[in-house]
Amino acid sequence: MSKIRLGVNIDHVATVRNARGENYPSPLRAALLAEKNGADSVTIHLREDRRHINELDLKKIIKKLKIPLNLEIAATKEMMKIASLTKPPFICIVPEKRKEITTEGGLNLNHNRTFLKKLIKKLKKNKSRISLFIEPSIKDLDIAKKLGVDCVEIHTGKFCNLINQKKNYNKELARIKKAVIRGNEHGLEVHAGHGLTYTSARILIRVRGIKEFNIGHFLVGESIFDGLPATIKKFKKILN
Ligand code: PXP
Repeated sequence: MSKIRLGVNIDHVATVRNARGENYPSPLRAALLAEKNGADSVTIHLREDRRHINELDLKKIIKKLKIPLNLEIAATKEMMKIASLTKPPFICIVPEKRKEITTEGGLNLNHNRTFLKKLIKKLKKNKSRISLFIEPSIKDLDIAKKLGVDCVEIHTGKFCNLINQKKNYNKELARIKKAVIRGNEHGLEVHAGHGLTYTSARILIRVRGIKEFNIGHFLVGESIFDGLPATIKKFKKILN
């Protein structure tokens, strides 16, 4: 079985920095430390409101990072322009609402499909790997295939919340399993992300066919206690 990749999302290093308007802690330093300690890619989400990562972070990180940078963007003209200019190796298109605390669900693929198609086509010209952040829904997997992306990332937020609240997660896990199978049948590379912890990652790892896990908030939080290198290594061990 091929190795499962770990994408380390460092948005919340920037959240801590921005909370005080200082220039530390440095997302670039976190990205390079993640690379050094076994991350397979580094993820940053350049939000419209620049709540955490900003363009300067993007420029610095893309210049120095040797492992792939995964840029998360909303489907907007502004982000299309930025991604076309910076040409990150990986791009994940995500939904965005101004007032949300975090990305609350997968993309609404029924909305703005014409623009999504245009965006995907344009970004693929730069040889970027394009992914869509979607709900574990068969319908959305079928639409993703038609849209011509390389990968999909399944939103695991609901599943992780149920685990955190010690509720029954079997139905949601079954939904994820079905979505992974459909994605693989379509020849899409399937990823998972949102809300993942050591516990939820350990459960999800048993679902065959997920190639990449993207983890941020919990990982950065645990780093406060154990350090970024040890936390990344622990996740890597769980994934493989
Ligand atoms: N994957 C995607 C597409 C995301 O937008 C995010 C952040 O919202 C994550 C993964 C990481 O989620 P978390 O920070 O909860 O681990």
